[in-house]
Amino acid sequence: MRIKVITKLMAVGFFVAALTLAATADNARAESASDNYGLYCVQCHGLAGVGKGINAPALAVQPRNHVSAKDMGALKDDGIALAIRDGGVAVGKSAQMPSFKKILTEAEIQDMVKHLRGMCKCEGPK
Ligand code: HEC
Repeated sequence: MRIKVITKLMAVGFFVAALTLAATADNARAESASDNYGLYCVQCHGLAGVGKGINAPALAVQPRNHVSAKDMGALKDDGIALAIRDGGVAVGKSAQMPSFKKILTEAEIQDMVKHLRGMCKCEGPK
């Protein structure tokens, strides 16, 4: 009898532990576009976003300077989202700009576009 109760309590304990783990894993996800930029973009576009990330010297085409209002101002919001979602090739640019559709959700891509607009302090052509 007592063993049965202990087994039940242990089962409940495992369940709570599993829930806690699931919650922790969820919290480990990037919460903002700024976090996602730090995780997925800085390697090429650089910490400051000027296109001089640690991988940049190895790339045949230099990553876009996200801080340049001149460069980023020439790109439409839709085009930026497309480049992030489907990669450089989708917008007729270098394949060295990867596709992030398996990594970022559509909402995260749209947030990233806004984040980039904040970095360049610019708007795209309407
Ligand atoms: C492996 C290197 C690499 C990574 C990682 C990378 N990029 Fe790029 N990105 C590039 C290169 C190279 C270009 C320039 C493509 C060209 O001009 O042909 C580029 C261009 C761009 C452009 C401009 C597209 C255009 O139409 O001119 C945007 C916007 C962009 N990247 C956003 C991002 C974002 C946001 C991330 C992170 C989620 C990211 N990139 C991660 C290499 C990278």
